[in-house]
Amino acid sequence: MLPCVRWLQPLLALLSSPLLTWGQNCPASCQCPDPHTVDCSGRGLTRLPDSIPLDVRRLLLSDNWIPWIPSDFLVLYSDLVYLDLRNNSLSRIEPGTLSTSSRLVFLDLGSNNLTEIPSGTFGESRSLIKLRLGNNPYLSMVSEDAFLGLTSLRELELERNALSGLDVGVLGQLPSLRLVRLEGNPWVCNCNFAKLFAWLMENSHKLPTGIQGMECSLPVDGRRVALSQLSEDSFRECQVTLTLTDYLIVIFSGISVSVAAIMASFFLASTVHCFQRWSKANKTDDEESDA
Ligand SMILES: *[C@@H]1O[C@H](CO)[C@@H](O)[C@H](O)[C@H]1NC(C)=O
Ligand SMILES: *[C@@H]1O[C@H](CO)[C@@H](O)[C@H](O)[C@H]1NC(C)=O
Repeated sequence: MLPCVRWLQPLLALLSSPLLTWGQNCPASCQCPDPHTVDCSGRGLTRLPDSIPLDVRRLLLSDNWIPWIPSDFLVLYSDLVYLDLRNNSLSRIEPGTLSTSSRLVFLDLGSNNLTEIPSGTFGESRSLIKLRLGNNPYLSMVSEDAFLGLTSLRELELERNALSGLDVGVLGQLPSLRLVRLEGNPWVCNCNFAKLFAWLMENSHKLPTGIQGMECSLPVDGRRVALSQLSEDSFRECQVTLTLTDYLIVIFSGISVSVAAIMASFFLASTVHCFQRWSKANKTDDEESDA
């Protein structure tokens, strides 16, 4: 054997182990219809399958019982473009899990058990175009910065969750948004909802069925009303946010009211005083004339 081959042997052995999981082999319970697709949907999996090829681009894991994905998952599968985790048992996304998913275009986390979407969950997923988060029956909290950095996101699904309110800044951060699904949430049309309502009126073309399909319940008696029955006037009582000028006007009118009050009482006091003196003087005049 040539010396250089002997020298290369350990190197080749070292290289071949990752090469084995690179391309060719398919996880035991899955199907790999093409070199970049791994389809493990509906296999009754209770955790992520082992030995998913590292160069996978489409990973289909829907209709399983997967409760958790490790936070370094997308560090390993950095070519991933399409990740379908629909209808699993995920209750949370570890912080940072999606912060390295720079190629991810499609992410489906619908029909899981997520309870909240914390700030910065999606990190720098600048390629993400479609994000499905609907049908998470306990999802009641979406942080204001939840979707920060998703500059390409066109479609956002948040339908049929447990949202009673949503900070309008969440939607304001998405410059490419074309479609948003928000129907089927237990919205409460209180003063917090006023800003979201204004946004929805302005952006109703981004809702699949306009505002027709959306309802909210009245804070007083819980009665459900269609958003189409409301107008910005319905939230008129909520417009108590004062600007600086308002405050200055309030303060100055306060001051002028007090000044006016002081002047009025001074005037009143001196009038009374004058009157008393005048009546006293009159009395002495009368007494004098009587005498
Ligand atoms: C969700 O996955 C379970 C388990 O595979 C399956 O039985 C069920 O039909 C799926 N539900 C939907 C709505 O696809
Ligand atoms: C989903 O979450 C709720 C509350 O957080 C919990 O009670 C329930 O057991 C969870 N269900 C599954 C399938 O994990």
